[in-house]
Amino acid sequence: MDILSTKEMTRKEMLEVLDHARSVEQGTSLSGEVLGLLFFEPSTRTKMSFTSAMKRLGGDVVDMGSVESSSVKKGETLADTVRVVEGYADALVIRHPREGSARLASEFVDAPVINAGDGAGQHPTQTLLDLYTMREEVDEDLGSLHVGVMGDLKYGRTVHSLSLALAKFDTRLSFVSPSELRLPENVRRELEGSGVEFREVEDVEGVVDDLDVLYVTRIQKERFPEEREYERIAHSYRVSSDSLEDAGDVRVMHPLPRVDEIDPDLDDTEHALYFRQAHNGVPVRMAILDMVLGGSG
Ligand code: NCD
Repeated sequence: MDILSTKEMTRKEMLEVLDHARSVEQGTSLSGEVLGLLFFEPSTRTKMSFTSAMKRLGGDVVDMGSVESSSVKKGETLADTVRVVEGYADALVIRHPREGSARLASEFVDAPVINAGDGAGQHPTQTLLDLYTMREEVDEDLGSLHVGVMGDLKYGRTVHSLSLALAKFDTRLSFVSPSELRLPENVRRELEGSGVEFREVEDVEGVVDDLDVLYVTRIQKERFPEEREYERIAHSYRVSSDSLEDAGDVRVMHPLPRVDEIDPDLDDTEHALYFRQAHNGVPVRMAILDMVLGGSG
């Protein structure tokens, strides 16, 4: 079983992971199993929480390390790297700057492949922990929520995988971004085809008082073709306790890392969910690993 995209996961499959994450316990169910970590891009949360999850289930990890210190530096192809690492590990977690790379890797190996972010494409395990957080902290019924998704909707892979997943729950969606960072055409088309109710706006003021969750993202600087284009749009939005003064009890989420789009003055308020959200990466990834490698769930 590969986990490549939320586009091909059913609502039932997602709920199975979320239910399992509720009850999964530390133990030895994955004793003797090894997870291969191949991160061709920086990572703190995803890599460390996968490692923590694997160890809490009694398994172990082997880590390619940075691109700089691996044979990728010598010009090895992704196909060759994954074929080799398949001999060292029972499942592979891959993050890569090129869209479609996890799917490509899955064509070269029999071991399960988990997409930990492919360029501006998808980040399905982040979505599962986002859904888990909404379900545990906001409302069990994801379909009853109104979720605002704000920031870099163009290059943000967490946005793409989350939107397509929430559409399957019929969650009402409001997309908030500067016009340059609107949703890409392929995601908009998918949403239109799904029949979910959504709108696109440039300012959060008009929608925030109706939201249950405001999901904020950073501008993905590394994906801009020109640094100048990034500079033009950098620092163009920021959520603070002032901006949420009249917003009721909206909960603010963020996949992290944040740059300057959430004022730290929000951290100790009831609005802030983002650190708990990051911590939920462990139980959710334990559930995923247990289902992929241990056959349970
Ligand atoms: C995200 C990513 O890598 O897409 N990070 C994460 O895994 N929590 C978000 C980001 O980098 O902005």
